[in-house]
Amino acid sequence: MQGELAARTEWDYAPAPESREIVSIAPEYGLFIDGEFVPAADGRQFATVNPATEEPLAQVADAGDADVDRAVAAARTAYERVWGPMPGAERAKYLYRIARLLQERSREFAVLESLDNGKPISESRDVDIPLAAAHFFYHAGWADKLEHAGFGPSPRPIGVAGQVIPWNFPLLMAAWKLAPALAAGNTCVLKPAETTPLTALLLAEVCQQAGLPPGVLNVTTGAGPTGAALVAHPGVDKIAFTGSTEVGKEIQRAVAGTGKRLTLELGGKAANIVFDDAPVEGAVEGIVNGIYFNQGHVCCAGSRLLVQESVADAVLGRLRDRLGTLRLGDPLDKNTDIGAINSRQQLDKIRKLSDAGEAEGAERWSPPCQLPERGYWFPPTVFTGVSQSHRIAQEEIFGPVLSVLTFRTPDEAVAKANNTPYGLSAGVWTEKGSRILWMSQRLRAGVVWANTYNRFDPTSPFGGYRESGFGREGGRHGLAAYVNA
Ligand code: NAI
Ligand code: MG
Repeated sequence: MQGELAARTEWDYAPAPESREIVSIAPEYGLFIDGEFVPAADGRQFATVNPATEEPLAQVADAGDADVDRAVAAARTAYERVWGPMPGAERAKYLYRIARLLQERSREFAVLESLDNGKPISESRDVDIPLAAAHFFYHAGWADKLEHAGFGPSPRPIGVAGQVIPWNFPLLMAAWKLAPALAAGNTCVLKPAETTPLTALLLAEVCQQAGLPPGVLNVTTGAGPTGAALVAHPGVDKIAFTGSTEVGKEIQRAVAGTGKRLTLELGGKAANIVFDDAPVEGAVEGIVNGIYFNQGHVCCAGSRLLVQESVADAVLGRLRDRLGTLRLGDPLDKNTDIGAINSRQQLDKIRKLSDAGEAEGAERWSPPCQLPERGYWFPPTVFTGVSQSHRIAQEEIFGPVLSVLTFRTPDEAVAKANNTPYGLSAGVWTEKGSRILWMSQRLRAGVVWANTYNRFDPTSPFGGYRESGFGREGGRHGLAAYVNA
């Protein structure tokens, strides 16, 4: 006993907090319209909080119809007079500048993202910010080569893009939307999520620093009504949305018949499928990365584990051991694996669906785990004994909650994996290359990862179909959403 305790103490991590000194958060933020930060016309504001402590971080301008109107007008003028006519090679220079500034100021962005969103600093530092910069670098490369991209001899920009993004990867989703749009010669009005507006506003500052002409990027912070005003605005030519399937459907209805172009990246309920010949250690890491990365706030999260019955006990045993080593807590601590849930509202949703899982008869397990007293927290959770009809097998939880189902044959795995209204992503773990191909032809998902999970690259198209939406982001396919051939 003594020895065991001593061994444990030796392995404890000392706190390793990243300093927040690098970021200076202003008490108030304006909207970014026509190259300047301005208050909302009616002076309204909302608070953004640190979800790990519930501490208010700043007051942010809440854009109303008049502000959206001004932002769209600024984007239109910039499109017609400056950005649309500008040679691609010139646009590229600005995008490269923005990419380099993101790299130079990456620590500042990472700390700010973790403060506003609750995600571990290791993730914002190693995933969100580098990938955001990579998206700008990649699309900068396309800006002067569009006529060679397979869209015909002289592809044209569409015009003004209205872009509404969620809170799970705030800066990265802004980069996914802005970089291809700007590379192709469109101008943008971006609506960040109301719980995570701060890195989009810092990006606006970076655009000022890069000398981006006024009106090329506008940021209208606010909640659902601000997004709805942007979607409905007659001066917008293209809408791009990432968020819930419910709001995606509303947007589709609002846009129908207007002639606006539309892409939707919505929810998911992905199957992560582990066959009996998969290397167990690797598969367990992939399961953990699939559902506990970013607190499970990931549209393509591997939220349903389908494990072959013959290895289910072995895989689940290893998984439980591994979950026991995850560290939940201060998002700014470099050793933290699981940060805070982004909002009280999202925490309530995760609790409600997890309670429904128990009520419907599934068995709930979490490793011993001390939750901080303040802030929004949920422990990593595994449900076994899940049947396909359970809500936790059907509905997107968007939290650190894994539903485990088993299968016996590859056909059964495919049938169960496809038994969802969504179609965004899937994972396959097996040693056999032929089986990977066989599975990926049958899985109804926009992205299939083999022996890995949650891998992203700006060159690779990402997107789904059915209730997961339509259109692609990334790669040549993503650019297609921002050009008229
Ligand atoms: P949401 O879809 O309401 O929010 C996403 C964005 O849309 C935010 O910027 C929001 O302000 C904006 N928005 C809200 N209503 C709008 C409207 N009528 N018109 C235009 N824009 C509007 O998602 P929410 O409420 O934050 O999360 C609810 C659930 O949605 C989550 O639990 C999760 O299941 C799913 N979700 C999926 C995401 C994904 O990456 N696919 C991202 C965020 C949420
Ligand atoms: Mg916040």
